[in-house]
Amino acid sequence: MTIKKIGVVGAGTMGTGIAQVAASSGFEVILNDVGEDYLQRSLKIIDKSLTKLSEKGKIEEDKEKILSRIKTTTSLPDLKEVDFALEAVFEDFEVKKKILLELDKLLAPSVILTSNTSSISITRLGALTGRPSQFMGMHFMNPVPLMALVELIRGMATSQETFDEVKTLAEKLGKVPVEANDFPGFISNRILIPMINEAVYALMEGVGSAEAIDTVLKLGMNHPMGPLALADLIGLDVCLDIMEVLHEGFKDPKYRPCPLLRKMVDAGYLGRKAGKGFYDYEK
Ligand code: CAA
Repeated sequence: MTIKKIGVVGAGTMGTGIAQVAASSGFEVILNDVGEDYLQRSLKIIDKSLTKLSEKGKIEEDKEKILSRIKTTTSLPDLKEVDFALEAVFEDFEVKKKILLELDKLLAPSVILTSNTSSISITRLGALTGRPSQFMGMHFMNPVPLMALVELIRGMATSQETFDEVKTLAEKLGKVPVEANDFPGFISNRILIPMINEAVYALMEGVGSAEAIDTVLKLGMNHPMGPLALADLIGLDVCLDIMEVLHEGFKDPKYRPCPLLRKMVDAGYLGRKAGKGFYDYEK
């Protein structure tokens, strides 16, 4: 099947980035979220990002033309004509379940359904739908327009045809697909989030200041940003959720979330989106 129209559910950070990349790659996009304000915010972010990329000569096509390929809607049934769908709502199993069940009902039987989940079992999500062989994980990295990787995760029932089609799509989106097996956190978050958690332990135990910890990783290991600044970018609530998934999934104490990470989430210091995390940000 030729994919032309992509439905994206969830206009948060990831859904917004995915919609932008899909439209920039020539696909028609229908972006859905529950509130018109989320959709407008999303379009503004895309506009700003395209302006930056255009100024740097990283996109050749006219910004307005790319934007014209993105339609927004607060009504999920408007996605019924898409020929590929991706769920990118926040990491809550019950919310994802509700949306996947609705999508499964309204999409044509041949349509592939994917999730951008960063840690929930693809097998478990796929089994909720009537199309587990046409369901798989497509995990993008933040910020989506700048990051080359997409992790591709098969559920137990995912067919080879589905995998091949999604891999081809990832390449058409200009990304480098890497296959990961369906274990908690896949590859990316199995490694990244425990590193961030350990950096929070180092801060809590006074091994170094936030600046010192981040500088060591930046200058000592050539990471583009330190783990605490990256936690602020990802969202401390998201980092904590993923640690919980690893802890719960492996039942191994090495994945216990750092108490300081939990405390910061309790305080509402969620990182960039809250204006405060390990660092302060202008809102
Ligand atoms: N669109 C367009 N331009 C953008 C942008 C976006 N979305 N985001 C940032 N930029 C631009 C900035 O505006 C800046 O432009 P100028 O140079 O003109 O000012 C430029 O990109 C570079 O940005 P910065 O100077 O702020 O910082 P940088 O050089 O360090 O690059 C970065 C930014 C690409 C984010 C880099 O720091 C980086 O790669 N960081 C690591 C990101 C990472 O690890 N992501 C994965 C997170 S984990 C995840 O996503 C999975 C999960 O499930 C949790």
